[in-house]
Amino acid sequence: MLYGGSNRSQRLRFIFGICIAVVALFNAYIATYHHQHIVEKVTTDPLTTPFLSGSGRNQDFSPSSTASRASSATLSHSLISSTPHQKLDRTKPRRVLFVHIGKTGGETIRQTLRVACRMRQNPSLQESCLQKFKNDPSLGKTPLNQQTIGTIHCLLMVPANALSKASTLLVSVRNPIERVISWFRYLHPGNCNPLVDKQSTACNVKKALRRERKEARKRQKRGTKGGDKPSSWITRFFQCFDSLPQVGLALKRDDASLAAANNCSALAQKTIRGAASPISSHIYFNYEYYWNQTLALGPELETMVVRTEYLWEDLDHVQSLLHDDGAENATTTQYNLPPRNNHTHGSESHRHVDSISGPALQYLCCALSREIYFYVGWIHRAVNLDVVHKQQALDGVTKYCNNKASANRDDFLVWATTDLATMESMLCT
Ligand SMILES: *[C@@H]1O[C@H](CO)[C@@H](O)[C@H](O)[C@H]1NC(C)=O
Ligand SMILES: *[C@@H]1O[C@H](CO)[C@@H](O)[C@H](O)[C@H]1NC(C)=O
Ligand SMILES: *[C@@H]1O[C@H](CO)[C@@H](O)[C@H](O)[C@H]1NC(C)=O
Ligand SMILES: *[C@@H]1O[C@H](CO)[C@@H](O)[C@H](O)[C@H]1NC(C)=O
Repeated sequence: MLYGGSNRSQRLRFIFGICIAVVALFNAYIATYHHQHIVEKVTTDPLTTPFLSGSGRNQDFSPSSTASRASSATLSHSLISSTPHQKLDRTKPRRVLFVHIGKTGGETIRQTLRVACRMRQNPSLQESCLQKFKNDPSLGKTPLNQQTIGTIHCLLMVPANALSKASTLLVSVRNPIERVISWFRYLHPGNCNPLVDKQSTACNVKKALRRERKEARKRQKRGTKGGDKPSSWITRFFQCFDSLPQVGLALKRDDASLAAANNCSALAQKTIRGAASPISSHIYFNYEYYWNQTLALGPELETMVVRTEYLWEDLDHVQSLLHDDGAENATTTQYNLPPRNNHTHGSESHRHVDSISGPALQYLCCALSREIYFYVGWIHRAVNLDVVHKQQALDGVTKYCNNKASANRDDFLVWATTDLATMESMLCT
């Protein structure tokens, strides 16, 4: 029983390590408490409960096949018709919950938020985080900092009741394809560079792989009968795949029996669809996960979005919208924020930086259709973005995922008014 007892806490510590912002002791109490908190409050299913019934702009996407028409009839509402269309109210005081979605540049925003220091449960790290704000009082004076009351990242929300106190969500999002590319690079054991960061996720993955191989060898030596401990997601995934194109090709869907017969295909599908394991980190904590944890529980919450691709532009704009007098020119520069470099977690030293194209990319787009649906949903909700910004966000997706299902296939409103089944048929043909 060398490993038996500590398995659960080991696993939790691992997830915790993976969600970098949540450094230090991640205890089961928080996970359990938070989980209960969530379960109690789940009252709306984003896919079946319209948030605002009857605002029914339900543009027909006219997909070519009658089959997809039939299935879209059963899921005929869409995010745009089911979420309240909001206008910005400049006068009201706000209480912002920062929804830090992994691999979206959220780390950069987090660094500017005093309340996010509470994510650091290691007292000395928390202290040095708070010290930064003491040393430079102007940091704390940004409208965003003054109005942000909490943050959520992976399994952790601080303070635990932040959602019920919030009036506004600030969400960081990124093109879903690029988010997956970034996720893969960040996890790949080949990207562990101990000279840059021994504690990086890639290094944690590498250590876990080594430990599990060692354990398996020991078990073999002992000849434990039937004691085959199932490998963790990490071992199974990296035994199957060394590159993202390999993952993409394994997502080929036209042969269901293949997927059933081949554990790697099934594993790729599950993983990319966010259903594999919390240990798969930010692919598991996906746009739908955060939607469920926030908007689904508070459909009336005002939503602002910062796009990774336009991080500083969007952040400046959000700051100006949050400014007391709505001064359009209240920028982050004026508030002396940290330098505008990218927080990359040392990713410039990554060796595994393969991109993805061709059929592998098209299979990936298909497997991500649900994720893209929620991405479009977040963008659509954003009160700080106008239609040009929203279109830009969509263009980033159509750049990778061609779809030939509609004449006006690149129009944001068309995408925002589509339902999940239609989105799938668009991205999977
Ligand atoms: C797939 O994995 C499961 C459990 O790990 C195993 O029982 C099954 O035999 C595997 N199937 C194939 C085809 O390898
Ligand atoms: C979101 O909530 C819906 C409805 O409760 C559920 O079916 C779905 O699995 C959830 N998805 C995630 C990623 O949490
Ligand atoms: C904003 O712009 C106006 C007009 O250009 C200027 O008078 C004002 O000082 C600026 N406000 C700040 C806080 O920089
Ligand atoms: C940050 O990354 C983006 C996207 O890769 C790039 O366009 C931008 O120039 C970078 N900014 C800095 C300051 O390095």
